[in-house]
Amino acid sequence: MACHAEADEERFSFAPFARHPFFTEVNRWIVERVICPSRRTIVDLGCGPGAVTQLIVERLGASGHVIGVDPSVTALERARRAIKSRVAEFVEGSAEWLSRLVPSADAVIFCNAIHLVPDKPKVIAEIRKVLKRGGVLAFNTTFFKGAYVEGTTGFWRRWVVRAVQALRERGLDVQHEGKATARAFLSAEEYATLCVQEGFSRPTVELVRVEMTPESLEDIGRFSLFIEGALPGVPLEQGAEALREGLGRALAETGLATVPRNWLECVAVAS
Ligand SMILES: C[S@@+](CC[C@H](N)C(=O)[O-])C[C@H]1O[C@@H](n2cnc3c(N)ncnc32)[C@H](O)[C@@H]1O
Repeated sequence: MACHAEADEERFSFAPFARHPFFTEVNRWIVERVICPSRRTIVDLGCGPGAVTQLIVERLGASGHVIGVDPSVTALERARRAIKSRVAEFVEGSAEWLSRLVPSADAVIFCNAIHLVPDKPKVIAEIRKVLKRGGVLAFNTTFFKGAYVEGTTGFWRRWVVRAVQALRERGLDVQHEGKATARAFLSAEEYATLCVQEGFSRPTVELVRVEMTPESLEDIGRFSLFIEGALPGVPLEQGAEALREGLGRALAETGLATVPRNWLECVAVAS
């Protein structure tokens, strides 16, 4: 059973999506603002297969230490294979008990994962415990209230509706929640308030707008956590295939060549 789950995780990995240039751009935004000569011990929380860890390693150079943390054994194996640097190490575990996994750090970088965490106050409090005073929490996400660029909400809805339709055409009955998202969306203001409540100064918040290509949308539609969020309860193989078909239909019907989307970029200092 565990083997089967790991094989699925490998097939439906985040890695293909992480190779798109705009994705590097939204993560580099964070890495460049956080890593400086006085911040050398960095936690890459929810590191997945290591795309952001790689950027951190490049920015740190020879001196420094980055600890990648993720609950997915398969993703960590990929990260270890991809990153051979001696400044990097990887630890299995979840954000909910971060303070038991890593030593105190100058910065915690949490890219493209905070929306997946059900108990956000607890996780932000754990991050605060790990940080030295003056240390930095930086995170980004594109699953927040405000992610949809004006005029594109219809596309995201249509993508899921068409995927559900494709499944039904194949005789699979699915519950339709009508939202292509992994978990509940918070607004930038709600994230900022949470940071302040848990011992940070008011964060700086910015939106970065990217153009998502059809290829990148197809790749995110093959990522296990995205499939589970968009089509809860549907087996990954059928879910991925339905999202691929739904995407083709939604793009054809809306006439969009690329789909713009906002990333929320947030940096908070531990007070
Ligand atoms: C979309 S991937 C992002 C990977 C990487 N940060 C990046 O931006 O390329 C989300 C990652 O968050 C991890 N994740 C999910 N729940 C988590 C939790 N409670 N604590 C830490 N990581 C978690 C998943 O295993 C997955 O690898």
